[in-house]
Amino acid sequence: MSLIYRRRPNQPSIAHVLQDYLGEISPFARRVDRRLLAPPLILLKTIEWAIYRWYKTPIRRFYGVKGNELIYMITSRCTDRCAKCGIWKTPESARDHLPVAHFIDCLNRLHENLYQLTITGGEPLEYSDDLLAIAGVAGNLQVPMLIVTNGVLLTERFLRTYAGLGHTLVISLDTMDRAKWADYRGRDHYDLVMGNIALARTILGGKLRIQSVLAAETREDIPRVKAFCDAHSIPHITQLYMDFGGSWHSAGGAPDSGLACAARKNICIYPNGDVVKCFDHRRIPLAKEPLGNIAKEDIISILCKKRSTEVSKVMKTCNFPCKQLLCNTPTFPYGA
Ligand SMILES: C[S@@+](CC[C@H](N)C(=O)[O-])C[C@H]1O[C@@H](n2cnc3c(N)ncnc32)[C@H](O)[C@@H]1O
Ligand code: SF4
Ligand code: SF4
Repeated sequence: MSLIYRRRPNQPSIAHVLQDYLGEISPFARRVDRRLLAPPLILLKTIEWAIYRWYKTPIRRFYGVKGNELIYMITSRCTDRCAKCGIWKTPESARDHLPVAHFIDCLNRLHENLYQLTITGGEPLEYSDDLLAIAGVAGNLQVPMLIVTNGVLLTERFLRTYAGLGHTLVISLDTMDRAKWADYRGRDHYDLVMGNIALARTILGGKLRIQSVLAAETREDIPRVKAFCDAHSIPHITQLYMDFGGSWHSAGGAPDSGLACAARKNICIYPNGDVVKCFDHRRIPLAKEPLGNIAKEDIISILCKKRSTEVSKVMKTCNFPCKQLLCNTPTFPYGA
């Protein structure tokens, strides 16, 4: 026995408790539309936070009602060869690609926990039929969905069906300059993508967003993309450049918000069905290996594993640059 009080390495400090509280309450407060209701709702949320902070069953603590985002990297294949990105360098083989039925089972199991389903890649439109099947199920389950696309493979048929389901589309656009296009995208298809953006604006109306990556290389481009979006009433989102194996350079980081990384609200699925808590999980020793695979196990069983809970706890105090990726922040910039 010792009189010396030993702190365990992962035991949260007061600063961590405060970060945890703000990380949960700030995004909640932002979602309350009516200002008069904000104080009582924040009080109730604080009581809920306090209860589940000290008394918690793993699944309820980390996976609350409409508290989570399911992010599916449906493929790492891509039409483009962007300089900013390295994902296209390692496309999955056809054998490694998850049949869509497994993802739909996963969505059916999790839908009550989800405030949003995001589908990214690689280029998601490489699997446009799967996307429409998923969009239909998400619509029936009332889970707002958004797809992030490079805009190359969009068709009128796809856009009309997708628009009919009421979901959101985000198209990536980093420059308005035709001369830079091929350097940025590794393909010379300025007219095709700009034409598809115009078509998407006509069909999707207010459900279209444009997202740009702010890097040292695009500093002068982003204001022009933003001006284009303003002129066409398309909401514009800026994502800071991160190292995804690309060759661009950071434009300088945003000041640290001081909030805990919000990625622990996420449930991320790789093209082969592997489940992780964030796509940068390899930085966390305990999270290097996937938590399971939805082709082989039920998603709820995967998320109830002790290691899943432990990884979520470690993420509370994790502080790598990937914390700044929009999907890892507590705000909801896409407004799906
Ligand atoms: C990886 S892409 C996949 C979806 C689709 N292929 C596209 O480009 O929109 C998802 C988003 O990440 C952005 N992105 C790509 N490389 C990035 C990087 N190095 N840092 C930050 N965001 C990046 C893209 O611009 C896109 O908006
Ligand atoms: S950013 Fe998107 S379009 Fe560009 S290579 Fe990566 S996955 Fe493909
Ligand atoms: S900081 Fe990065 S690695 Fe750590 S939890 Fe957040 S997204 Fe994952």
